[in-house]
Amino acid sequence: MKTAILISGRGSNMEALLTAAADPDYPAGIALVLSNRPGAPGLDKAAARGIPTLVVDHKQYDSREAFEAAVTDALADAGAELVCLAGFMRLLTDGFVERWRDRLINIHPSLLPAFRGLHTHEQALAAGVRLHGCTVHFTRPAMDEGPIIAQAAVPVHPDDDADTLADRVLAAEHRIYPLAVRLIAEGRARVENERVLVDDAAIPQTPLINPAG
Ligand code: GRF
Repeated sequence: MKTAILISGRGSNMEALLTAAADPDYPAGIALVLSNRPGAPGLDKAAARGIPTLVVDHKQYDSREAFEAAVTDALADAGAELVCLAGFMRLLTDGFVERWRDRLINIHPSLLPAFRGLHTHEQALAAGVRLHGCTVHFTRPAMDEGPIIAQAAVPVHPDDDADTLADRVLAAEHRIYPLAVRLIAEGRARVENERVLVDDAAIPQTPLINPAG
């Protein structure tokens, strides 16, 4: 499945997807990495792996719609069938999201529907949750909403700060994003009544309990 990745920055989730897609057995190939920020470090990382990259600088456009039209053209040129938002820091219009309905996915660093928006690790620490995590979901017009494809939970440690917690969540992000793309590319994840059904999924039977005892 021809896949495009939209980034704005570091691109560590993008790298996880590129690493997965480098395996000939992986059912998705990365056709394009597109950044709205010219200096995004992820661009060089993708180029170093021989992946086509493109900058569509939102500052060069008068409106969100004009920016998104350029993104849409680039995605069409690349033949993208699936679009992965990976640290893409622009809000997308409803029109764009609907055009890509069920073909546009996002990774968010919390166990949705908890802690939408920014600073999710600070939010989790402030709430005192014992388990935190990350979510890959199909994108819908409302921010950080949409049918959930995969989630990973990590424990919150008593001495965590936002950085240590972010590191633990990020390691989990790098596992579930390639997993979610694989499920979609294999045709095993589909949306029904705004929930995702996954065929032949291995479901863990044990709870993750924190504190353990
Ligand atoms: C990740 O935490 C992702 O969940 C969030 O933005 C961050 C991007 O990191 N949407 P990276 O650019 O993938 O390293």
